Amino acid sequence: MSVLIKNGTIIAEDKELIGDIYIENSIISEIGVNINKTADEIIDASDKFVVPGGIDAHTHLNIHMGDIVAKDDFYTGTEAAACGGTTSIIDHMGFGPKGCDLHHQLKVYHEYAQGNSVIDYSFHGVIQHVNENILEEMEDMVAKEGISSFKIYLTYDNKVNDEEALKVLIRLKELGAITTVHCENDGVINYFRKLFIKEGKIAPIYHALSRPEESEAEAVNRMISLASVAGNAPLYIVHVSCEKSMEHIIKAQQEGKNVIAETCPQYLFLDQDKYREKDMQGLKYIMSPPLREKENQNLLWNDISNNNIQVVATDHCPFDFKGDKQRGKDDFTKCPNGAPGIETRIPLLFSEGVMKGKIDIRTFVDMVSTNPAKIFGLYPKKGVINVGADADIVIIDKNREVTLSKAMLHENVDYTPYEGMKLKGYPVLTMVRGTVIARDNVFTGEKGYGEFLSRGKASKNK
Ligand code: URP
Ligand code: ZN
Ligand code: ZN
Repeated sequence: MSVLIKNGTIIAEDKELIGDIYIENSIISEIGVNINKTADEIIDASDKFVVPGGIDAHTHLNIHMGDIVAKDDFYTGTEAAACGGTTSIIDHMGFGPKGCDLHHQLKVYHEYAQGNSVIDYSFHGVIQHVNENILEEMEDMVAKEGISSFKIYLTYDNKVNDEEALKVLIRLKELGAITTVHCENDGVINYFRKLFIKEGKIAPIYHALSRPEESEAEAVNRMISLASVAGNAPLYIVHVSCEKSMEHIIKAQQEGKNVIAETCPQYLFLDQDKYREKDMQGLKYIMSPPLREKENQNLLWNDISNNNIQVVATDHCPFDFKGDKQRGKDDFTKCPNGAPGIETRIPLLFSEGVMKGKIDIRTFVDMVSTNPAKIFGLYPKKGVINVGADADIVIIDKNREVTLSKAMLHENVDYTPYEGMKLKGYPVLTMVRGTVIARDNVFTGEKGYGEFLSRGKASKNK
């Protein structure tokens, strides 16, 4: 099977050109001007950007949280991802039964994804307790199972303490793997949650007020110190929501520490006032960390443009407003945490970032594809348009105007946080390994087409 993409504005790994890409047997075999070869399929990309397929390094498909399950599974969620220009995901495994080993959740997640995912996928390991066996087992997970990153949580039920976090950092560094971390100070959150509930402060805004910026920034700073004590262990901080956290990260990066920051579109486009929407609609935005004061948004955009933030992922964790999120209507602490976004990441970042001049097209490609591929051991097969790479390609029409709405999206959830947003520029074609799986917002792929990506070590952290 061969495909020829003609006359696109190609953002290739080491060059940008108006030209053609020739694909043979799912791999990019030639990039150039006026490639004169026959092909089974010819795609005209005139006046459009041709970029590497998006890699979403932070999703929660099918996650079980107590008695509630995220609305998107590996089929519906990846279909939505494909329509929004994402060609690979690295999903964060949810917690398993208390005391289970690392392989337990890996097996569960392979069962969730295999035969369902329409795009390529991998998983981050989840560490829910730390002991000698778990530290030992990590070796097998990295070397045999292709899981070269793990997440720890500093809050929630399965949080680790500082000693445990340090052990994880040291061990993963030794194995050439990377620690990702959810940074929030558990004590601060517990204090405010108890106080607010006692005082009858049950509305969604108190979710944000119970998790102040300082509670995130303190935990970020603590993890940076622990990673330093661990001998400059690689540290990836997920879903950074505010500049107070970035101040610590930027300082660490300036000192040459191996600290990587991820943010998410919700922190770039939505702010804390959303929690005050009428009819308890504020519950739609209950996620952790919470949405912040608006002034953070421009600062985070600057951090992206200055390469202090390396990745924009989604933290896609969808629950219906009706029934699921409404569990929090009389007590914000009862609302499941998380919001949808797997389909809107690339459209939002392109339209509001590139088209409005906040970031250039190269930075956009780095944030949504190349950097996550490099950080999480998928490069050079994924994350770049280059000869020899998988033909995971997205074509973006910069003139396509779209109003985001629940109705036009494929996410299996009853709302989008971005309802009514007018975008200029939208993905019009998504290809995974040379096969077109979405065209003009219509899914054309096949259930189960996605392959598991056994990941290697990070090739380069930025
Ligand atoms: O609220 C969120 N972010 N839910 C998903 C779980 C997590 O902490 O990433
Ligand atoms: Zn998290
Ligand atoms: Zn998450």
